[in-house]
Amino acid sequence: MPTRPSSVRYGAVAQGLHWIIAALIVTQFVLAYLAEDLPLGIHKLALFARHKSFGMTILMLAALRLGWRLTHAPPPLPAGMSPLERFLARATHAAFYILLFAMPVTGLLMSSAKNYSVSWFGLFTWPNLIPKNEAAFEALRTTHDLLSDVLFAVAVLHVLAALKHHFWNKDDVLLRMLPFGKTAKLKTEKFS
Ligand code: HEM
Ligand code: HEM
Repeated sequence: MPTRPSSVRYGAVAQGLHWIIAALIVTQFVLAYLAEDLPLGIHKLALFARHKSFGMTILMLAALRLGWRLTHAPPPLPAGMSPLERFLARATHAAFYILLFAMPVTGLLMSSAKNYSVSWFGLFTWPNLIPKNEAAFEALRTTHDLLSDVLFAVAVLHVLAALKHHFWNKDDVLLRMLPFGKTAKLKTEKFS
């Protein structure tokens, strides 16, 4: 059971995890697209090794973040939001939580199906989850690619919504996710 929100702002842990994970997601897209354009060789493999290490870092941080989220209620949504906006906000956040697990897990399974080991920055190796299987590899690669498109679309929607709140609605939804934002003008609904 989440606790009652004690403030109209996200706490430092929620903010920290939010922005670290957001930066890592951007890094993942940049690394994947840089690597894909390279011919097979040491540079391509090095970029994918980084992609895998950062990807598995996202999995660990996502577990931490979900645990934190389930025990620390987020601040309530602004009172003026319509039921459709509320639904979209919650659906987007839920989709993010699912994708933060689904992307790394399909990535790890894909590598396992090819029998490629996944190292974490050279410090240790993740166990291969399934035996070598070319058909499974192709299915998982397609799934990973498709999910990355879904993640991209959800992120665009999410960023546009944050900007709309800030510049159009002029509420404090963006500021309360920023470490130095002031949230004096925030009107919230009653928490139930
Ligand atoms: C949240 C984490 C992750 C994100 C956002 C992400 C994103 C992406 C993207 C955007 C691509 C390019 C897709 C395309 O071809 O259009 C890609 C490819 C790939 N990813 Fe990830 N990835 C993540 C985690 C992982 C992990 C943990 C692994 C492995 C352990 C992994 C392995 C791969 C591989 C091998 C490819 C190349 C697939 C191919 O040959 O088409 N990814 N990823
Ligand atoms: C692709 C990277 C991103 C991911 C995965 C992500 C994920 C999330 C998630 C899961 C939440 C819900 C937090 C919770 O209640 O548990 C959230 C909230 C939020 N995010 Fe992001 N986010 C990303 C990028 C961004 C960016 C670039 C911005 C700013 C333009 C942003 C602004 C916000 C704001 C303002 C909230 C608070 C919404 C509210 O109060 O209801 N996010 N984000």
